[in-house]
Amino acid sequence: MTATAKGYLLLCRPGFENECAAEADAFAQSAGIPGFARTEANSGIVHYVFHEVCDWQLAAEAAPFTRWVFPRQRSIWVERLKDLPPEDRATPLVAAIVALGQNVGRIIAETADTNDAKELGGFLKRFIPHIERALQAKHILRPKKDDLPSLHLLFKDSSQVDLGLSVAGDSSPWPMGIVRLRMPRNAPSRSTLKLAEAFEVLMTEEERKNSLRAGLHAVDLGASPGGWSFQFAERGLHVSAIDNGPLADSLLATGMVEHFQADGFTWRSNRKSVEWLVCDMVEQPTRIAQLVADWTASGRARRCIFNLKLPMKKRFEELKRCRQIIDARFKQHGDSYVLRVKHLYHDREEVTAYLARS
Ligand SMILES: C[S@@+](CC[C@H](N)C(=O)[O-])C[C@H]1O[C@@H](n2cnc3c(N)ncnc32)[C@H](O)[C@@H]1O
Repeated sequence: MTATAKGYLLLCRPGFENECAAEADAFAQSAGIPGFARTEANSGIVHYVFHEVCDWQLAAEAAPFTRWVFPRQRSIWVERLKDLPPEDRATPLVAAIVALGQNVGRIIAETADTNDAKELGGFLKRFIPHIERALQAKHILRPKKDDLPSLHLLFKDSSQVDLGLSVAGDSSPWPMGIVRLRMPRNAPSRSTLKLAEAFEVLMTEEERKNSLRAGLHAVDLGASPGGWSFQFAERGLHVSAIDNGPLADSLLATGMVEHFQADGFTWRSNRKSVEWLVCDMVEQPTRIAQLVADWTASGRARRCIFNLKLPMKKRFEELKRCRQIIDARFKQHGDSYVLRVKHLYHDREEVTAYLARS
């Protein structure tokens, strides 16, 4: 027996529900499992409902987590329980999980990223261990089996929960897709956390190991006051920081960063090639896409992380245009590339992308 999928369960930054819905629709249409989105503005949740149920693994394969941009978390929606009785919420929930006929390796308890939903935190801390114990006793939850799917329990309140499944390794490893990072002491700006999150979310461990090594070189376009440069300097990389604005004295004092007061669109390194280009300039997304594609496709930078500050409307379409620009630039060279784009927890109106020649 295999669980059937009702649709996709998506969590996002409140305000980005339409973008999630548009992505879900594109995936579902191309996989031949069309449906429609059910959501409320600023709820931080989208239920994408298939017109016809299908095998949950088929729905998962049709839309691997790494290919989504706007959802911070996505699972395959398999069940909804309403009206859990306050005197015993556990019994019906455990029964519903048993009825799925699916062993799982971990349980991920989640809520929307809204103030109301966050108040459920205390309840979940007390309640979830009961569910875990009950499922372990029934050999349905097997925490030592890393290759088993994850079970997502998405609580609307303490009486309503949606059940979702994801294939092992095919969802955000952080509950609700929220990467909590501590602000480093001495970092010149909070946006340092954005690059730290991008390293975690957009790159593999192997890529991090190979590219974030002492002695390598990075170029930081739009660097002031230096939060992104700080991430490299901390790891012993040399940075050329380009910005007419000032850099924090503490950053310059590390001796790892050279400041160039210049235009990021025309500045050129005197090195033939650098390991890293990063770009946080506030500019039209299509101009940034062209610039980073030039650096990376020509081999002047081996890899790149950049922000695209999207317009308030038609964000999904603008992103499509940026992808087309990058694709066209790499096609000129006949090279293939890796492009991963995500609306990170530390992003607001922008998305962050990782681009490298492959
Ligand atoms: C969001 S801030 C960068 C913050 C920085 N990443 C940090 O972590 O501290 C954007 C910066 O881009 C710079 N900028 C905008 N257009 C630029 C250009 N054409 N050339 C160089 N810098 C530019 C601005 O001066 C501004 O300091």
